[in-house]
Amino acid sequence: MSQPTKTVLSCIQPTGYMHFGNYFGAIKNWVSLQESYDCVYGVVDYHAMTMPFDIKKLRNNSWELIYNLMAVGVKPENLFVQSLIPEHTELSWIFNCFCSYGHLSRMTQFKDKGKDVKEKGAESFISAGLFDYPVLQAADILIYKADFVPVGKDQDQHLELSRAIAQRFNHVVGKEYFKMPETLHTETPKIKSTADPSKKMSKSAGEKHYINIFEEEARLRKQVKSAVTDVGREEGKMSDGVANLFELLKACEKMEAHDSLVDSFNQGTLKYVDLKEATADALVELSQAFIEKRNEITADKRAVKYQIKQSSAEIRKKAQETLREVKELIGLMNVK
Ligand code: TYM
Repeated sequence: MSQPTKTVLSCIQPTGYMHFGNYFGAIKNWVSLQESYDCVYGVVDYHAMTMPFDIKKLRNNSWELIYNLMAVGVKPENLFVQSLIPEHTELSWIFNCFCSYGHLSRMTQFKDKGKDVKEKGAESFISAGLFDYPVLQAADILIYKADFVPVGKDQDQHLELSRAIAQRFNHVVGKEYFKMPETLHTETPKIKSTADPSKKMSKSAGEKHYINIFEEEARLRKQVKSAVTDVGREEGKMSDGVANLFELLKACEKMEAHDSLVDSFNQGTLKYVDLKEATADALVELSQAFIEKRNEITADKRAVKYQIKQSSAEIRKKAQETLREVKELIGLMNVK
């Protein structure tokens, strides 16, 4: 008898443009996994509310991210918008009661993001939602009974928490109801900021700290050209900035250029300008293809919106089924 196809789930927040960290750390995997698995990918707008946000932009950011995901090869039938599937938030309440306060307090992303908010002078907006967000993430994953979750390295701790919640739930109900979701990484799970390679590439750190995958050529080249290469360099040791440019080249699958430049590095003859040029060429090649595809997709935005509402309704059926089973198992009532 053939085995049932395994399920892959992952999500991304609609907080602006998609950058090469998102793409090489996670989304590239989302695209290729579609060939072999049942895949469900979410634009998680409830998560985007956990940091100070602009109510005038949120909905549009979600649609923009949908176009972006489709432009890089995510199939629309695999995509949903989180606020169109209210079962995620209902399950997250239930999971709140299966997650210890102590475990949630140890999430480093809460500490980092809380610090960001404080530094921006918006202290009163360190919301309870920001603290609780990993529980909603567990609901996103477990509601589809995902086998695999393709994410960047920064999500490892959240995935551990999801497994802890699943374990606690299974223990309380006395059966292996939820399976343990496995984390999947690409070969480049942590892309750094080119402006400050001690940080990860991210939008929240500011404009210089991320490269938009739809960036126009001149600016993209400028960003790579100004990449920091030498900070903290020790004789014979590769600095974080140089290593990051090599990571980017590898992520673009330009292995010939990568290997020959690594040889130059090892012989002590590498010119950073050559490494930067090869990296910029590779990124521009990718981004040009993405821009072209995005233009095709955005030519009929109404059709895309209709399609995504349909796919969200279809994906919702699975979420409804899980929530119904969960409520039965723990003694809550189902509406019908
Ligand atoms: P988000 O929206 O910050 O990022 C989306 C994906 O991109 C990855 N990523 C990176 N990978 C490598 N290098 C980087 N510099 C880099 N920056 C971002 C992230 O690891 C992520 O995979 N909490 C999640 C969203 C989420 C989720 C989920 C993910 C909500 N529910 C359920 C998986 C499953 C987040 O904020 O990702």
